[in-house]
Amino acid sequence: MIQSVTVTSPANIAFIKYWGQKNDELVLPFHDSFSMNLSGCVSTVTIQRQQAIKDLTMQSKFYGQTEFSEANSAQLHKIKQFFDFVHQYLNIPSSHGYSITSENSFPHKAGIASSASFYAGLTLGLVTLLEAEISQAEMSMLARMSGSGSAARSIPDGFVWWHKGNGETPVELMKSSVAESIAAPNYWDIADLVVLLTQDQKKVGSQAGHKGAVSSAFFPDRLLSVDERLKTIRTAFDHKDFATFGKIMEEDTLSMHLVMMTQNPPLYFWSGKTLEVMKQVVNLREQGMHVYFSIDAGENVHVICQKADEAKIAAHFRQQPDVLNIIHNDPAPGARVTQLV
Ligand code: DP6
Repeated sequence: MIQSVTVTSPANIAFIKYWGQKNDELVLPFHDSFSMNLSGCVSTVTIQRQQAIKDLTMQSKFYGQTEFSEANSAQLHKIKQFFDFVHQYLNIPSSHGYSITSENSFPHKAGIASSASFYAGLTLGLVTLLEAEISQAEMSMLARMSGSGSAARSIPDGFVWWHKGNGETPVELMKSSVAESIAAPNYWDIADLVVLLTQDQKKVGSQAGHKGAVSSAFFPDRLLSVDERLKTIRTAFDHKDFATFGKIMEEDTLSMHLVMMTQNPPLYFWSGKTLEVMKQVVNLREQGMHVYFSIDAGENVHVICQKADEAKIAAHFRQQPDVLNIIHNDPAPGARVTQLV
């Protein structure tokens, strides 16, 4: 019997984003989304069996910390519910407790998908520990059911499409919303430079945020226009047409943040520093550089460019007084088991 498993798992950046849930119990999005796994933003998650069935402990070491800290009871409760769900789904009784440790190579809850990398790692780790044989699509579905929907996209490799799912019954719906790789990491030499402006943790979690999306007067417009963006970006991706790809990616970020800022209560993730980086990206473009931004639920900005321009663009942002650090990311594989004991 496997006693302990360690998984490394990437965060991901969505080019077409997921915001709002059609069904919050089943963590179903309103539409498909499309992302890339990030080589420089990785969680390492270890799960070890414990004898006592009730034991569930978790210790985390976040970016910049030297010591591990214990999870609070709300975090443990969420993980316990998720573990119970996975056991039930796999039809394996819970006969053990677990101790979990996790470490991140990047700031936590700062708009860089730290819960996606953590929950994808946790899912692959638990299923491996339980020695259950399931497909990668099912693995992504289970990761989605953790509540951090975007975790589904950190399971497959490289460039990943998460399908919204369809079906008549709740079980059909639950099983059909899966993520799949549409291209390996080496398909396209593009880079994501995370321009780090803050390490502060966001105050409103995505779960509360998703619930508010439907209250925005701009949400119907987002739903009407997103399928066209998905279609156009997919064609641009297939033809490696970076200019169209970047334009659509930026439009989708702005569409999502318009919804966020106009939902009730509103969510303003940008700071003045965020806007400054966005404006600089536009300026660089006016000077002939091929560079675009994407922003998740946080203040930090993902600056996306072709690999050949990465060093020049990184040097530009490194000189800016508000920039704390730049995290370089290439397209990366999905979650992987790295150690079994
Ligand atoms: C704004 O519900 O997956 O990043 O649980 O915080 O990881 P966390 O969030 P989740 O929603 C993330 C939404 C987003 C856009 C996206 O990644 O598609």
